[in-house]
Amino acid sequence: MTSQAKTQDSGGGTAHDRLPGTETAGSGQVGPTGRPLPDFPAPPPLRQHGPARVIAMCNQKGGVGKTTTTTNLGAALAEYGRKVLLVDFDPQGALSVGLGIRAHDLDHTIYNALVERGHDVRDLIQPTRIEGLDVVPANIDLSAAEVQLVGEVAREMVLARVLRPVLDDYDVVLIDCQPSLGLLTVNALTASHGVIIPLECEFFAMRGVALLIDTIEKITDRLNPRLVMDGILATMYDGRTLHSKEVVRSVVDHFQDTVFHTVISRTVKFPDATLAAEPITSYASTHSGAEAYRQLARELVARGGAP
Ligand SMILES: Nc1ncnc2c1ncn2[C@@H]1O[C@H](COP(=O)(O)OP(=O)(O)OP(=O)(O)O)[C@@H](O)[C@H]1O
Ligand SMILES: [Mg+2]
Repeated sequence: MTSQAKTQDSGGGTAHDRLPGTETAGSGQVGPTGRPLPDFPAPPPLRQHGPARVIAMCNQKGGVGKTTTTTNLGAALAEYGRKVLLVDFDPQGALSVGLGIRAHDLDHTIYNALVERGHDVRDLIQPTRIEGLDVVPANIDLSAAEVQLVGEVAREMVLARVLRPVLDDYDVVLIDCQPSLGLLTVNALTASHGVIIPLECEFFAMRGVALLIDTIEKITDRLNPRLVMDGILATMYDGRTLHSKEVVRSVVDHFQDTVFHTVISRTVKFPDATLAAEPITSYASTHSGAEAYRQLARELVARGGAP
């Protein structure tokens, strides 16, 4: 597996404790990952849209920020004029509900496209209140898919086939995985060009990551040779605690350039935005949490992870 990380560090400086998003990019300051923070310019407008780059948001550990990152990275990319499709691939349906969709009342979701013939994913797409941001919802029905797909021919490639008709309509497709390494997640990784791993800044953050990376490498070897690691994203960072800083430093020691320079701080604005059924970029547009996801979007584009 190759890493997508191509960003060049620039400048020097001394470590400081500013929250991400408040640093002056490219000014020679050191970011929260302990490395000089490069400048991530605003991505130029696209002259045409598609075909999409597909990215799976993946970590089998629960509650690390997969759904929050899918929503807010997607919304930030949409602000930069990218056409973004979010795919809810978790039977909890948190991504759909967090974007104001009453997913539990829906009769047709991604589940139907996966297990029944004759469903076109285009009929499942719902717009959100954010221009350029659409979503394919999921609900608890999806929990049956894992068992139903087991007997299918090419059972790992079902999502890739389902998504194929819409790829030309979008610039980026983000798949919000459930917290497991089961068949649904294998389908998401097989359908993707890249994978982003959110890691919560807490003591056991790295537990399970070796297994996740091993799984990604197996999928690269056996099912999807184009799959690359787009990056590891530190989430729920608390710059006031030594603990958070130590976790980030150890993740960087381990994974080096694979770790995004952008770090997402812990703030109650994220659950607040979810309750309001909005991305933070519209719910609290000027908040540092919104700015952090905009920086992540710029960093991803700068790395070649999104057009
Ligand atoms: N940076 C953050 N600061 C504070 N709270 C956050 C942050 N990111 C996410 N949260 C909150 O933490 C909880 C878990 O986040 P999220 O749902 O994004 O994780 P997940 O990895 O998708 O979880 P699951 O594995 O259950 O799908 C949510 O209540 C969310 O609002
Ligand atoms: Mg989730």
